[in-house]
Formats: sequence, C-alpha cells, structure tokens
Amino acid sequence: MFGASTSSFQVEGGTGEDDRGISNYDCFPKKPGITDFSVASDHYHRMEEDVALMAEIGLDCYRFSVSWVRIMPDGKTVNEKGLRFYDRLIDALTAARITPILTIYHFEYPQALLNRYGGWLSRESIDDYLALARLLFIRYGNRVKHWVSINEQDHLLKIPERMGFPAELNGVEYERKAQLANYHLCLAAALVNRLCHELVPGAFIGPAANPLQAIPASSKPEDYLAAMAYNELECNYILELNCRGRYVPLYWKYLCDRGIQPDTREEDMKILRDNPPNFIGINYYTSITVEASEAGKIQCRGRGIMLQELPGVYRTRENKKLPVSEWGWPIRPEGIKIAIMELYHRYQLPILVTENGLGNRDRPENGAIHDDYRIDYLRAHLHEIKECIDLGYPVLGWCPWSFIDLVSGREGMGKRYGFVYVNRDNNDLKDLGRYKKDSFYWYQRVIAERGRYI
Ligand code: BG6
Repeated sequence: MFGASTSSFQVEGGTGEDDRGISNYDCFPKKPGITDFSVASDHYHRMEEDVALMAEIGLDCYRFSVSWVRIMPDGKTVNEKGLRFYDRLIDALTAARITPILTIYHFEYPQALLNRYGGWLSRESIDDYLALARLLFIRYGNRVKHWVSINEQDHLLKIPERMGFPAELNGVEYERKAQLANYHLCLAAALVNRLCHELVPGAFIGPAANPLQAIPASSKPEDYLAAMAYNELECNYILELNCRGRYVPLYWKYLCDRGIQPDTREEDMKILRDNPPNFIGINYYTSITVEASEAGKIQCRGRGIMLQELPGVYRTRENKKLPVSEWGWPIRPEGIKIAIMELYHRYQLPILVTENGLGNRDRPENGAIHDDYRIDYLRAHLHEIKECIDLGYPVLGWCPWSFIDLVSGREGMGKRYGFVYVNRDNNDLKDLGRYKKDSFYWYQRVIAERGRYI
C-alpha cells in the first residue's frame, strides 16, 4: 500500500471546539517563537478538502490518530461530538477508496488523567486506555481493520512532557519512573491486541516503533558490541516485550544493576507472551553511528532521546560520510533496509512503514514549492524498501510522514514534512491554504506506476 501519515494534535487544531478536553500538549510551555497546537493545519475544519487531496495523489491508505481528549475530554467520559468527527473522516476515506489506518495513541494524553493518578505511572492507566480502545473498536471496527496501538513508545518515555513528568526529573529517578510506565504501556498494548481481535473480526494491530539501528563506527569488535548494546538498550527493549514477552538479558541486567527494574508479575508476562502484535510498524528518519565508550562505570541514561554517551557502553560519533538534513539528522536510506531485515529476522512479523520523511524549511516561490531535497530523500528510502520486497520481505506498506504540513513535535511550523504545503508560519496564520509541492506530483506518479521505476 502506498500511504501517508499524520497525527491528531499536529494536524487538527480546533482545540477549543465541540467540548474537546485538555491534553498534555495544551499544557506544557513551547520553545520561544514556536507555535502552539491550537490551530495546527486546521484539518478539523478542512478535513474534506484534505481527503480530496489524498484521493488526488492516489493514496491506498492514510494513517491518522484520534485525539483522546476529543473523544473522552476527561479521559473517561464519552463525547459524541468528537466521535462524529472521526466518523466523517473514516466515511470520507472509505468513499475515496482509501484504507484508514487508525493510531489509538500518538503522544497526546488527557491532562485529567495525569492530574488524577500520574498517567502511565499508575496501573489504572491501562484500564482507561482499554476503555478508549473499546470505544473505537466498537464504533469504527466495521470500517477500520488496520490499527496502530501506541506510537513511538520509546520517544514517549524519553521526553518528560509527553509522559507528564516534572521538567526537572532526571537520572536514576527519571529512569525508574520511565521503566514503570514502560511496563504498563507494554501490558496495555498486549491487552489491546487481545481486545481488538475480540471485537473486530479480521483486524490487524501493531505498535509503531522507532528503530534507529546504530551502525558501528569501525570494524573493531568493541564498536560492534557497542552498536549491539545501543540497539538493545535504546530500541529493541520494547519490541522484545511486545513480540516475545521478555526482557533481554543485557537490558534486564542494566535495570537490576541500577535497581530500577519494575516489579513484574508472572500473570502479566503471560499476557505479553500470549498477545503479540500482527505486524511491526516502523517510523524511520535517521540512524546513528556509535563506538565503544571507555568510560569506567556504566551510568544511568536518564532522559532525552539522543543521548551522546552512555558511559561504559556507547558513544555516538559524527559520521562525515553521511549527508545531514537541514535539522542536522544524518540521512542514511540503507538504515530502513537494515531495520526491516533485522526486525523481520527477529520476529517474523510483517512490517508496515508507518513514518518516513524529511523535515525541511520549504520556501515557496510564486505558489510553487520545489522540494527536490524531499523527493531525493523519499526516492532513496523507497528504493531500499523495494529491494526488501524483491528479496521476499513482507512489507505491507509505506506511509511517509507527513501527508500535509503539520506542526512538528518539537520544532513548530518551520520544520515541514508534507506533500501539501500549508500556508501559515509560526507567528502568522495567513490563509492556511493548501498548495501542492513538487513532491506531491512526484508521489502521484510513483503511485500511478505502482513504484515500478524506483
Ligand atoms: C515521530 C513522531 O517521532 O517523528 C511524529 O511520531 C513527529 O509525531 C516525527 O512529528 C518527526 O519529528 P519532529 O520532531 O521533526 O516533528
């Protein structure tokens, strides 16, 4: 399937409408000069126009997320008006013959649940997440068969505002809390897999992971081991729980040595083992080069996505051979192939590329956006995916990030990813008009040719 992705809080806007509640993203302070999410791309008011553009480009599928607080403003009570918005969206997609892929939880979390019990730190969070999922399965399960349970759990855990953790929390205390939340999140994902199959016949469900796939900086065995450790400690620790219901030895030792392991229960581990996903979603943007860290004692990683060094284990290294994006992210298309092959070898589950794209400052010229840099990035990555398919790896689809420009998770409106340009910037909403970029026409042709000439 040729698709594209977005997420609710980044694209919808309309935060004060139809009895929507307050989310974590409404509450934390933004970087100076960066927009909030209150208007975003105004998709809430322009949904039909946006779906018409999806039909025009020729999408087979569209991955979007629901806003938990639009549907359950306080995280518990149902808001019929919110449900109706997604009814309309799903019906518009179905009418346009576009398969909906629904992400249940993409970073946006009810502030009321954070205030009430600290969100994922409490076991009660699992019941509330399942209540949301039950509502979605019952309401949309006749039209939606593809479900994503949790988006980028690793990046949820490493960014305090996404978890509702205090900004000053760090070090061992941060990680102890993150580990407890991770355990609850994994359990919630397994239970939601089970519930999905009980309520939605013929459904597929899986998480969207973000494997960075570290590459060793040299042929030295210690650098290879550092890359292996990076992949286990920073990426695979969640998928091992999702797909096999276990903590890998290296990871468990890391936790026990610091006394930050969660109290596991055998009945929970059985739930994890018995309810694996049906596919693995991969969000892939960049990869990382690491070498061994010779520093003495292994310390605790604490918070933050891109840790430069975990002393005693790995240290990230600049790789001068790789081009970087305008935002400094190394571009390594082969990394997506490595991720697909590696994860398939480990879990033998089909892969859905749930995100992949290039964030850049686009510069419109008389209404045209010549984003050749994005076309080059996407073409190179799609080529690697095609090679995987030719080798026999089961890749269900490719959903580049993002269909339309939206507010970046951390960088506001300056960092754009879409095939469709949205005419606004951080400080000026302008007319929020939609303009097709060169990459729109490129992707339209790729889809029409079914990727034959990539
Ligand atoms: C993924 C997220 O981490 O990457 C998206 O699922 C996000 O929500 C995307 O927007 C790109 O990251 P950023 O920080 O450039 O917006």
